Parts: sequence; structure tokens; C-alpha cells
Amino acid sequence: MSQLIVIALSATPLAVDGADSDDVRDDAVELFAAELCSADVFAVEVLGAALVAAADVVAPAASGTPGSRSAEPSTEQPTSSVAALTTAALHTIGVRRRMPSPSPPEPLEHPRILPTRSAPNAPGSVGSASWNPRATAHPRRPATDADAADRLLLDEAAAVIAATPAGRLVVIDDVAGALTLGAAERGAQQIRVHQDLITGERALAAAAEARGLTDRYTSLPLGPELFAGATTVLLRLPRSVDRLAEVAGLIAAFADPSVTVIAGGRIKHMSVSMNDVLRTVFDRVDVSHARQKSRVLTATGARPEAARAVLGAWPRTADHPDIGLRVAAYGGVFAGTKVDIGTRFLLQNLARLPKTATAVDLGCGTGLIAAALATANPDLRVLAVDRSAAAVDSATWTAAANQLSDRVEVVRADGLETVADGTAELVLLNPPFHNDAAVSTAIARHLFAEAARALAPGGELWCVWNSHLQYRPSLEKMIGSTRQVARNGKFTVTSSRRR
Ligand SMILES: C[S@@+](CC[C@H](N)C(=O)[O-])C[C@H]1O[C@@H](n2cnc3c(N)ncnc32)[C@H](O)[C@@H]1O
Repeated sequence: MSQLIVIALSATPLAVDGADSDDVRDDAVELFAAELCSADVFAVEVLGAALVAAADVVAPAASGTPGSRSAEPSTEQPTSSVAALTTAALHTIGVRRRMPSPSPPEPLEHPRILPTRSAPNAPGSVGSASWNPRATAHPRRPATDADAADRLLLDEAAAVIAATPAGRLVVIDDVAGALTLGAAERGAQQIRVHQDLITGERALAAAAEARGLTDRYTSLPLGPELFAGATTVLLRLPRSVDRLAEVAGLIAAFADPSVTVIAGGRIKHMSVSMNDVLRTVFDRVDVSHARQKSRVLTATGARPEAARAVLGAWPRTADHPDIGLRVAAYGGVFAGTKVDIGTRFLLQNLARLPKTATAVDLGCGTGLIAAALATANPDLRVLAVDRSAAAVDSATWTAAANQLSDRVEVVRADGLETVADGTAELVLLNPPFHNDAAVSTAIARHLFAEAARALAPGGELWCVWNSHLQYRPSLEKMIGSTRQVARNGKFTVTSSRRR
């Protein structure tokens, strides 16, 4: 079945149940997305009007009370006003809603050797090339615009932050600087910070500059130096349980044994398995009241020995004889050690690529496209790029594990900012279609624009995409003549030639 529906929620500012309109929009988009995926229909036009109409119908019945204290964070899907609104709106357009079932976390594997993680880029430089100032900040949230989870985390941590001596506070995965600068404004000095995304690092740097707080923090790679002697860690909870397991292991292994970890997130992104992961390396985990759909977990009683055992599992590796590669993955990287089905479809068409001396794996994740390219073409040099430090570290390991380090260079960067205009011969891309929680084509379009700028005239962008996203007109417009290389029930591979 295929059906055309348009989503234009941005035209519909809604405030329901005490949530801000961004929350409502995010939840609604996520719920629509889940429905549309499970029903195999295409998302296309909205529903602002349908939502407004639905709001009138369901709002009185949908108001809820803030969550009460409980031993565990809720694992429920969003079921408040937004869900009701969405259900009503879906009825308006004749689609029956099916809630997606939560997927179970993966178990930890056997310990191996603790690796050294890569350093974050110094401000103003990326990898081996100069920084292009057109690089974008985090696309969804303006710098330091604290969301409800950040605000709850800072409130819950206020007394601990005030009591933390200079140089003993660490902040992890701050989205755009709200936690770091919030702590600085509460008096914290010499804060150590690690953010997975380079775009987040830049947002923090810009916001710190604007507030005159640049001397209050230092960015460091994820590793022992980040945590040595730390007594307080503020952590924005990742969506990936694997990422949490890895970060919690590092904290418990290398911070001061008295460390208090205060971790906050949106309830819709939390699961009870997060408590279990924290309890693997901490004696005690307390759960806060819910506020504005957010909760905070506080972990104390670090167990360094247990933590070192956990850390040995990273990076995980898996052999894939069907594609002739070993894939390495740190926690939270796209698809882990698995081969995504879209990626696999792209790899099946590698033999049809034009012959070039160089190629770029844009948004490399674990680096398996770069490794497959370099393996198939012994003279090819490949640049693998990702904005995520965990992805870059994984791709570096994948290249090494396949004896390709001499021909695969891995760089942490936003898009192709390290590639000069009009110079790339060939770019391969499996673009993300989620930004954080919500379905979004914004990141893909940003990456298409980067490819358009960096490709040499006649150079090609090969892209695999979920067919319902209908990227072909965008590719035609932004890059140039686009042909379909292959298509199966779910994915399309296209080649776009730079005009
Ligand atoms: C769908 S995953 C594909 C990963 C890998 N190529 C594969 O096929 O398994 C998309 C990747 O793009 C990366 N990414 C998203 N936005 C980016 C940006 N602005 N610059 C560089 N990488 C980005 C994400 O971190 C993620 O690793």
C-alpha cells in the first residue's frame, strides 16, 4: 500500500499539557513517523489543520498530572495529549495508529582491551584541514537553549555543583552548552567537557564566547584524562544503552570513587535497562520525580573493578564474511557492528561505481563503506568523515582491523568542511533520516549541499535512501543529473553527477 500524506507541523504552534510547542511537535512527528513506517505509507503533507481540529476534540480529556516519584523511569511510549492528538489526527486522515514496540537493549560482550579514544578537534581546526566557517551548529536547537531535561538536571544537581571543588566537575554529551554553561553560571570552575558531536562542541564554544565563559571549561576526548579525580559528572543521557554502558564504565573506572553521576533525559528516550546498566558499575541508582516529561538518574558508589571489566568490551567487533569485512563499533554508533540493510544494498552496487583515484565516505559511522571501497579497489584512497567522535573512533578501528589504515583517512567534521570546493571525485552517502528522535530530512539536505559544494564538475554522489523519502528531485536540483542505479522493495540507490 502506498499513500501520500503531508506533514507540516511547523505551521502549527501547539501548547498542550504544560509542554512547549517544540516538545509537542517532536512527539507528534515521532508518532506520525512510527505510524507511517509501520503502515508502509509515505509521509508527505500535513496535518496542521487536522491537529488543531483534533486538539479541540481531545484536549480536555488529555490533560495529565506530572509524574509521581517511582523506582524506575517510565518505559511507556508517549501516551499523553500528544499521543491523543496524533491518534485523532491520524483518524482524521484515515490512518489507524499502531504503537511501535520498544526494542530490547543488546547485552554486553566479553571484555577486551581498553582502547584510547580520539581527541576532539581544537577550536578552529578539523582533522588535517582548515576549518570552513560555513559549518553549521546543531540543526534543531539553538545554542544553550536548555530543554526540560537540561533544566531538571541542573536543578537536581544545583547543591552538588555548588559543593564541587574547581577542576572536579565533568560534563558529558551536552547538546549545545546548556549544562556546561549552566554549571559555570552556578560557580563551577575548570569544567572538563566531552561532547560526541563536533556540532555540539561548536555550539558550546559559540555560546561560551557570547557569555564570556570560554575560560571555564576544556574539551577533552572520552577517556581516563577526562574523568581523573572527578567528583561530579553531569550527563545528558544518550538514547543508546550501549553508549551509556560505555560512558558509565569510564566514569566508574577513572573518576574519584566518591563520584556522583547526575544523568538527565527525556522519559520517552529512557528505559529501565538504563538503570540496570548504571547498577552494573555503581552501587546505587536513584530516580527523580518526573518533570515536563523528563527525569534524572543519580548514581553513586562507583565499582572500578566491575567497570574495567565492562570497558574491555569496547569497541565491539564482528566479522561479516558476506562482505569480507570486520566491523568495529563503539557504543551509540549507527547500526553498531551490524550492516544496515540500506548500507548493504549500496555495497551490492559498488562494482558499478566509476573508477576514481579518491572517494569520500560521508557520514561514515563505523566506516564500513570506506573499508569496502578500499578493499575492492587496491589503489583507491578514501576519506571517511563523521561529526560523531564515537563514529570516527569506530571507523579508525574498522580501517585498522581490515589492514586499510594506510589508505583510509578518518576525520571528525561537519559534512565535507575539510574538502575544498569542487575537488571531490566521488562521494558515497547513506544519510540519516532521524535527527535525535524525530524523522527529519534536514540532515540529508545539509549533506547533499555539502556534496554539491565539494564535488568536482562531473564528480558523482552515490546515495542510498529509503525510497519513500523521494530524494531524487532534491538531488537533481542540488547536485545535477540523477539516475537510479538500483531499487528494491525499500531502498533506492542513485548516482548524481555534479553539473
Ligand atoms: C545512517 S548513518 C550511516 C553510517 C554508515 N555510513 C553506514 O552506512 O553504516 C549516517 C551517519 O551520518 C553522520 N552524520 C550526520 N550528520 C552529519 C554531519 N553533519 N556531518 C558528518 N556526519 C554526519 C551520523 O553521525 C551517522 O554516523
